[in-house]
Formats: sequence, C-alpha cells, structure tokens
Amino acid sequence: MTPEQPRATSNPGAGAPTLPEGALVQSLLKEGRTFPPASAFRERSWVGDRTPYEDAERDYAAFWARHAEAELSWFRAWDKALEWHLPWAKWFVGGQINVSYNCVDRHAASWRRTKAAIVWEGEPGDDRVLTYQDLHREVQRFANVLKELGVQKGDRVTLYLGMVPELAIAMLACARIGAPHSVVFGGFSSDALRDRILDQEAKVVVTQDGAWRRGTLVPLKRFADQAVEQCPSVEKVVVLRRAGDALHCEMAPGRDHWWHDLMERASAVCPAEPLDSEHPLYILYTSGTTGKPKGVLHTTGGYLIGVHLSTKWVFDLKDEDYFWCTADIGWVTGHSYIVYGPLSNGGTSVMYEGAPDWPDKDRFWAIVEKYGISVIYTSPTLLRSCMKWGTQYPARRDLSSLRLLGTVGEPINPEAWMWYHENIGHGRCPIVDTWWQTETGMILITPLPGATTTKPGSATEPFPGVGAEVVDEQGRPVPANTGGYLVLTRPWPAMLRTFWGDPERYVETYWTRFPGRYFTGDGARCDEDGYFWITGRVDDVVNVAGHRLSNIEIESALVAHPAVAEAAAIGRSDAMKGQAISAFVVLKIGNEPSEQLREDLRDWVADKISPIARPDDVFFSADLPKTRSAKIMRRLLRDVAEGRVLGDTTTLTDPAVVEEIKQRYVAEGKEED
Ligand code: WTA
Repeated sequence: MTPEQPRATSNPGAGAPTLPEGALVQSLLKEGRTFPPASAFRERSWVGDRTPYEDAERDYAAFWARHAEAELSWFRAWDKALEWHLPWAKWFVGGQINVSYNCVDRHAASWRRTKAAIVWEGEPGDDRVLTYQDLHREVQRFANVLKELGVQKGDRVTLYLGMVPELAIAMLACARIGAPHSVVFGGFSSDALRDRILDQEAKVVVTQDGAWRRGTLVPLKRFADQAVEQCPSVEKVVVLRRAGDALHCEMAPGRDHWWHDLMERASAVCPAEPLDSEHPLYILYTSGTTGKPKGVLHTTGGYLIGVHLSTKWVFDLKDEDYFWCTADIGWVTGHSYIVYGPLSNGGTSVMYEGAPDWPDKDRFWAIVEKYGISVIYTSPTLLRSCMKWGTQYPARRDLSSLRLLGTVGEPINPEAWMWYHENIGHGRCPIVDTWWQTETGMILITPLPGATTTKPGSATEPFPGVGAEVVDEQGRPVPANTGGYLVLTRPWPAMLRTFWGDPERYVETYWTRFPGRYFTGDGARCDEDGYFWITGRVDDVVNVAGHRLSNIEIESALVAHPAVAEAAAIGRSDAMKGQAISAFVVLKIGNEPSEQLREDLRDWVADKISPIARPDDVFFSADLPKTRSAKIMRRLLRDVAEGRVLGDTTTLTDPAVVEEIKQRYVAEGKEED
C-alpha cells in the first residue's frame, strides 16, 4: 500500500444500522477511507510519532509548562504552571511576558530581521511585504501613538478595520502596552459596533476610510461615526487611509486623527511592557446575534503558548513556509492563526484583503500561485463554493507549492474533504480538519499531519494535553459510535477566562450543564478508533418521530451526490412526525433542477443514512444564507420553511439570498397546493 492512498473504500450507504428508538443525536453516516501520513512527510515534520501525546498524558500542566518555557521568551519565570479552581483557570501564575515582544522583537533581533513577517495582497491587486524589522518599527510607533492619545495599560481599544496590515500592527501595539484590544469584524453594522464598544467601554477606536470588498468601498469610518456618537467612553478615533480620494471622509476636529499624521510624529522606540501572564490580551465577541453580546476574554501567557504550539505542530510550520490562513482577522481564526500563532513562531503569514471570487472565481488559487503558498487554512464553506464553481478554476493555476491543507469553522463533509484532497492537494497534501471555538482560543481536536492517520470528515483526536469526551444527557460517557454531547474534561492554556463583565454568564453557559466539564454546545461521536466526528451545534438537530438526526449528516449525504454542491437540511414542524426534513440544495453548475432529481436525492439520502432521514421536501436554490464567519444560517431557513417573519439577518454575507429563497419557496408551495 502506498502512503496517501485510501486504505479502504466503503459504500457509506451499505449496511446503515437501524435506529434505536429515542436515542440521542444519532450518527449513522459511515466513512471508511483512511489516509496515513506519507513517510516523507512524517520524517520531516515536527511531530512524527506519539511521543508528545504520551508525554502530555503523564502530566498535562507540566507538558504545557515545558513547552511554554522552551518556546517563549519570559521576562520573569512563573511560580506555578496552573491554578485551577473550577471553572477559573490561571496559567503560569506569577510569570511575566509580553505577546508583542514574542511575536516581533525576538525575531527582529535574530536572523529573521529581514524575513517576511506579513505578506499582504490587496483586493485591487496591490501588495506589500513587511519584514520583522518593518513590523518592529511600525508596532512601536503605533504603541507610542496610542500612549499619546491617552491609552494606558488596561484601557480597551476597539479595532474596526478591514483586512489590512495595520490591523495586525494595531493589535500588536495594544498587546505591547497592555491595552486589551477588541477587533470588530469590518462587515458588522454600526449597531453591532456600538453594542460592542458600549460593552467594553473603549477609549479609542481605530478604523479606516473605506475597505475594499468585491470592487466597492465599504465606508467603515461612516459606520464608525454612527456608532461612536452613541458611545460616551470614546475619546479618540484614529482613521487609516485606504480609499484615499475615492471616498470622502468627515473628520471630527479634536476627536478624529489620521493614522499617517500620528505615525509620522511618533517615535519608533517603545519597549514592550512586562505583563502578568494573566493580563487581558483581547476581548472578542461571539457570533451570537441576540441579546447582549458575549465578550470572550483571552489572556496573555497561556493563550500565547496555546496558539504558538498548535501553529507549529498542526501546520507543521517551518521557517521556509508561506502560511496563508484565509479567515478574516475579525474572527478568532484570524487572531490566532494569521497574527499571534504564525508570528510567535517567526513565520511568514499571508493576508488577503478581499473576496474569493473577485475579480474571478480563481482568486484564491491565483494567490497560492503568486506567492508559492505552502500551507493554506480555509473553511469548508469556501470549499463547497469552489465545488459549485467547478474544478476549472483551481486547474488554471499552479498549486504545486502546497504541501499541507487545513479547514476550520464547520464540519467538513467527506465529499468536500475528498474534493480538497484531489483538486487542491493533488493527492499529495495531508489535510488537517481542526475543531475549535472562539472560546477555546486554539485548535483542540485535530490531526498532527506527520503523526495522525486521517479519515475524511473526522477532526480525529484531541491535541496533546487536551481532554475531550462524548457524553449523554446525564453526562455519562457514551459507547463508541453513539452520538452525544462534546465536552472538555481539563483546562487548557488558551481557554477563555470569562465573559467581559459577566462572570455568571460564563459559568452558566459552559460549566453548568455538565458539572466539572466544559460544554462545547456541539454534538459528536467517537468511533471505534477514538476518532471524533463533530455533528454540529446541538441546537442544529432534526427530530423526526423521536429520532434526533444531525443536520450535518443529512447535508453530507446530499453533498456526496454528483449533482449537488451545497446543502442545508433543517427540521420544520410537522403535525404527524414532530418535525419533517426540508433540504435546501444548490446544484453544481451544469445541473438542472427537476422532479426526477428531487426524487433521486430523497432516495439517495434514505439509502446513505436511513429511510428515517429521507427529506420530506427538496428545494433547489441558487445559494444558501451564510454568515460572514462562513456558517450556514439554518435558523433562517427554518423561518422560511415554517412561514415565519425572518429573524435577524444582519450577520449574513448577502441578506438578499434568503429573501429570494423565501419568495420562491412560497411561490412553489402555492403551485403545489
Ligand atoms: C464549529 C471557529 C466541525 C463548531 C474557530 C464550533 C467545527 C464552532 C469545526 C465554533 C470543525 C469549528 N468541525 N465543526 N473542524 N471547527 N466548528 O467560535 O460548531 O466561530 O463550536 O470558532 O464552529 O465557531 P467559532
């Protein structure tokens, strides 16, 4: 058997087990292909065997401490690696460290001084490279700017910018002086921005005149003005010039300052402040759209070793790599794997400003070709869009520089995994499917590409030192291949410490449902090899006649059909069965909706999973409603299917998509009547 070849191929539909009555989230989709690491890859990788897993099992706190000492530069050694008073964790108690120092100064003082730290591609096609030396100078200058504006250690700074290098510079400048930053995604409305500024009582807001998105300028400063007017805590607004003459920008005298004016006057010397290991590094609001925003708080020393070590081992990051995480820095993925993880390792981090289909649907692959990207980290949602667009787009570009592929954000269906493997990795590149959350700060369930045999659709196993388990309603571990709730059984260094200003809600959200354990809100099953298969958020389940089925599995079955590119499955109320299954399906280009195809798809799912999972209706649609953090908004599809007024659509990439689905759904329903 040659490495990288599937060991066994199974027909996922064959022999699907029958459903036990009333069981928990059920998980029936079978996937039998396995991909062991190629020996050439294993031999060169940071982790090529089980040693770190065994090491960490002996004493997980000592494991983290050993790496924190070896990998990071501390101003003062800690007295105690972990203080754990459930659910309150303190890592490296008494230690002093600075994240900005670790990400910038120590590399600027080494041979990496002239190495590319950030390689940036603007949407219109302009580009910039910042070496570690450049980054060192810019970060110190902006840290001095913040100080001059009155920002002191502990003050909060809101960053409302597009994907420009200055966003990373501003984050590192905040970290340098101990001012927790809060990045608000540039696609959020002024109301969302206002709520976040109010919650954290920020003193300074950093924004830009306009951000490029699909060839147009999004007027961020105008949105920021509307928000800041309602936020009494804000004293100063710094405005980066990106649009220039293309967009006029009002500047409030005394309050607003241009980035370039302030930087011109600022000194380029600002030593990094030694900070307590538990000093707040940043607040990041979770994607929730209702009620008071939840500000996840991450701190300094523990977070840094978590993202540092996971970047190094999961992405097998080497000095010669060009590492590209395609997420927006407005999400945790960008915080941990564009900025802090890669830079702490002295890596080269690639950053792209705009949309994947601008000016054409091969933009991502053009970027891979242009820079010779070696490791790419993206989302299943993006891959499914690429599947819809067709293989001609990646086929046009030279992807031979790639050596490792990653995904995050949603369960990846085995079909999308295989598509990635074949059309992007050309069968050569291992895939790391990484499970984690804003709250976890770092990747927690993942393959290590030189050590783990992968299975398409499985995030595989906990990172060394991490404890994870699947439990039932009562918190008891469930047997292999039985669905349940995913919980974490031990503290880990990059874990959230609390919600900003709301410790009770922190306890209630994560630590109450299963006492002593962290509740992730996700469903999962473990297979006979101990591999984790994430079935999605537990509130995303369909309950058909007492059987709780995972939406993700129905969707995976649909996407495995040759005509289907994307799918969303939801449960709508049904007088007979409790819930009926509605499937929303996007066809691959070149396929036409038909009554025959609709029937075929229903039978296909019944065959792949179980007759119980057969969709009651299949609706063909041109697109699906997705959030800007690349998740399908099933809640809105439920609203459509149940004829309700649509809920909040402000976090959608394109709210028109769901409106159109709604109108066509209603029209088709009438025809059928
Ligand atoms: C989902 C993103 C399956 C999951 C880093 C989690 C995943 C939520 C995966 C967190 C994966 C993320 N497989 N599901 N590999 N990665 N998820 O906070 O439901 O934006 O709880 O963090 O995304 O989303 P968040």
